[in-house]
Amino acid sequence: MTIKRTIEDGVETFEAQIDGETIQWDRGLTYARHLQTEQLLTSQVPVSDKPDEMLFIIMHQTMELWLKLVLHEVTVVGDAIRADRLHKAEKSLDRVATILRHMIHSWEVLATLSPHDFLTFRGFLRKASGFQSHQYRELEFRLGLKRADLITVHNDDAQKREVLEAALKAPSLYDEILRLLARHGFAIPASVLDRDFSKPYAANDAVEDAWLEIYTHVDDHWPLYSLGEKVTALEYYFQEWRFKHMKTVSRVIGHKPGTGGSSGVSYLVKALDLRFFPELWAMRTRMTAPREGGNYADGCPV
Ligand code: HEM
Repeated sequence: MTIKRTIEDGVETFEAQIDGETIQWDRGLTYARHLQTEQLLTSQVPVSDKPDEMLFIIMHQTMELWLKLVLHEVTVVGDAIRADRLHKAEKSLDRVATILRHMIHSWEVLATLSPHDFLTFRGFLRKASGFQSHQYRELEFRLGLKRADLITVHNDDAQKREVLEAALKAPSLYDEILRLLARHGFAIPASVLDRDFSKPYAANDAVEDAWLEIYTHVDDHWPLYSLGEKVTALEYYFQEWRFKHMKTVSRVIGHKPGTGGSSGVSYLVKALDLRFFPELWAMRTRMTAPREGGNYADGCPV
């Protein structure tokens, strides 16, 4: 095969006819260098000689990569909300929701790991567990679930501890949204706006009232309503991820304790009750059918 060599913008460039196509590449930047595929594809290091461990490793690694992108997009969302650029925040929130749906679906691949397959290498994992995923914990903190105790397992890793402590102390995505509501004139109490962000968020009646007003008079508050629905979708999919994880775990290990030492499935079931945006869920119970401009007959409550 003839390879044509030229210099383009000072870069050694090549061209060849392959399969009827003119294919080009250069020494400026290759696929492998851009995507660091060498590091990526040599990062699967089984601790056993059991064939099913590869699936287990790659499942975790792909989830970690998606978590990295979700964290990145959540930063974009926070910046956009602070700058009152809600259309930009919504674009990234839509992307996050799509990533989460993809992550939920990907549990199906891990579900091909039978209890027997897993037991062939489970003992080699010692106490390693997803509980120690610092990205997952950072995401929980950054969305609004502040639980300082969970940093403990990262005590011997100064860099990870620093990142988690910073996320713990900073306003979460929900704190940013509540500040936005205050900027739009809603009576969000100072005790909410100026709270110690490292402490768990406690649901507040005035915040619930604000969301109820927004969801009752949608046309008057469309941008805030739309943002509320986007973050509700985020939490909805996050919960679905948790549910699929719990179901996959119960399918693979039953009610055995986890490698990380917890009660296993019972611990994961408890996590299904955690909330990032509590008033956005609570407020729905108080909603009533719209009267003005709606097709609802008087005296016919829906
Ligand atoms: C066969 C596969 C899996 C099993 C049996 C399993 C089991 C468990 C168990 C029992 C826990 C509770 C903590 C413990 O005691 O270890 C846990 C936590 C966790 N796992 Fe998995 N897991 C699996 C796959 C995955 C995958 C693919 C991910 C993706 C990153 C993941 C992420 C997590 C996270 C983030 C937690 C902490 C959850 C929380 O604290 O709310 N797990 N896992």
